Amino acid sequence: MQQQVVKVITIDGPSGSGKGTISQLVAERLGYHFLDSGALYRLLALAADRHAISFDNEAALVTLAEHLDVQFKQDASGIAQIILESEEVTDAIRNEEVAGGASKVAALPAVRSALLARQRAFAERPGLVADGRDMGTVVFPAAPVKVFLTASAEERAQRRYNQLKEKGNDVSLASLLNEITTRDERDSSRSVAPLKPADDAVVIDTTGIGIDEVTDRVLSLVNERLAS
Ligand code: DC
Repeated sequence: MQQQVVKVITIDGPSGSGKGTISQLVAERLGYHFLDSGALYRLLALAADRHAISFDNEAALVTLAEHLDVQFKQDASGIAQIILESEEVTDAIRNEEVAGGASKVAALPAVRSALLARQRAFAERPGLVADGRDMGTVVFPAAPVKVFLTASAEERAQRRYNQLKEKGNDVSLASLLNEITTRDERDSSRSVAPLKPADDAVVIDTTGIGIDEVTDRVLSLVNERLAS
């Protein structure tokens, strides 16, 4: 129902494809809301770890997902902040360990169902840019604009390496490439909502293309599709 009036743009793709950055820029340019669905899986993994719930305890993870106490806020200077159980975890959810846990909990069908309504609730007027793996296939199948971003695994590992280095993290490019490939494999081969473009998604390969150009391509697509 809601999807018919709220304009939803889905941007899916593997990690390092640039979808996080592009989705935020597109949302800003359009004045739309933004859903970082990967953050929900990361938050669930972090909360599970803190509550000593193992990543294969599906029933306990579902209960945790249903009651996950999360707030997406902005601080006084407009910087996005994520609060889990009253604690700021904006940076804490971004490490590779949490990403690995997120990929594991995301492979559990009942966990994915438990997070569906929470994700759909982000669709508010005037519109939403939803970033994830299954935004166009499962969460917002009726979205009028669907984009799937890809890039070679090497380029994605390099981008992640640069990001982490910038933040002062000591990482090895080879191990990042290995982690990214393992996670892609798990995300693509799971039985529920595997990582794949929706049939009606426009696929953009961002290998060797800058952020501004990709953002412009997505915005032209949005103009084209939402013009009528
Ligand atoms: O986009 P990200 O790296 O923050 O996502 C973290 C993990 O969550 C990733 O391994 C895939 C999973 N995920 C998912 O299964 N479905 C989504 N819609 C978003 C993320």
